[in-house]
Amino acid sequence: MRVVEAFRDSYGMEPAGVWHAPGRVNLIGEHTDYNDGFVLPFALPWGVSAAVSPREDGVLRLRSLQAGEPVTLATPGEAEGWARYVAGVFWALRQGGQRVGGADVVIDGDVPRGAGLSSSAALEVVVGTALNELYGLGLTKMEIALAAQRAENDFVGMPCGIMDQAASALGEEGKALFMDCRSLGTRNIPFDLASHGLQLLIINTGVRHELADGQYARRREDCENAAERLGVDALRDVTDLAGALAKLSGDERRRTQHVVTENHRVEAVIGLLRAGAVREIGSLLNASHLSLRDQFEVSCAELDVAVESAVRGGARGARMTGGGFGGSAIALVADDRVESVRESVTGAYAERGWAAPEIYPATPAAGARRLL
Ligand code: GLA
Repeated sequence: MRVVEAFRDSYGMEPAGVWHAPGRVNLIGEHTDYNDGFVLPFALPWGVSAAVSPREDGVLRLRSLQAGEPVTLATPGEAEGWARYVAGVFWALRQGGQRVGGADVVIDGDVPRGAGLSSSAALEVVVGTALNELYGLGLTKMEIALAAQRAENDFVGMPCGIMDQAASALGEEGKALFMDCRSLGTRNIPFDLASHGLQLLIINTGVRHELADGQYARRREDCENAAERLGVDALRDVTDLAGALAKLSGDERRRTQHVVTENHRVEAVIGLLRAGAVREIGSLLNASHLSLRDQFEVSCAELDVAVESAVRGGARGARMTGGGFGGSAIALVADDRVESVRESVTGAYAERGWAAPEIYPATPAAGARRLL
């Protein structure tokens, strides 16, 4: 294993163990997690592996096979760049009162970068999972996900919800993870496309627009302001949509419309999956995209073209996935339409002079685990 060899080369000893945590793709339920709503992501076959040994002196020695120079940190606060996602997990666990010493760490990852497939959540969760075992913390998978989210919110400074970290920690092979982001209750829902002659294609636009992080924070604020105006704890609690919309205007109105209808779409998709009608979820994916584009305003030209050309090529449904402003779209496609969808999307990009997007099928894989 490459990560073990690199660990030996770097530190002149064997690692105490090797762990893996996957990236994720979200089937539906976008920008609902921080509104206490519903999400339905699944863990991907790609992720981050970490070879780790504990250290008694509290020091962190970190190396990534995807980044330049290794770093040695006396305290997590010294971390920069990618190392913040690792150091942040030490920080979050120690803040939470856990006795976590230092570690020697080598990271190796194969989540496509910039694709919006949560390589950073995978990195946080793999570190949390390793530390949980090495330091005998006795945390549940959800508690690891929450520590990872805290690292991202309060250490890295990105106000994300819990979806990405939970999907990475709790995913199961062949299943999507339905989660109520208020109760943190989860259920793994069988998601077997092959037996229905279907594939879920990821279309990686290869772009990530600068404004992504700032706009994410602003959307979150819009939602919180709308909830306050409506006198509810979170937009999840809106039961009378028409009544709520009548009390709101502008951005707050549009954001509310998206979040409330998106929660309904997640529930509708769950119902269809339960009934074995997976072919029928396509129109809900399409509706989700329109709502994200027009009401939540987090799409971009590259995502819209990917979605529209996929549907024109014969996809049963398509939508942007993840935070937006770049990253990836997904398309639900019957086996015999895969080629025509590829051609349609690639052609639409070529027409505009854009670099060809990467297109590959995704199947639900297992969540975080020990490899060695
Ligand atoms: C990013 C965040 C998630 C979630 C999605 C949008 O991936 O990290 O918490 O809010 O955007 O659904």
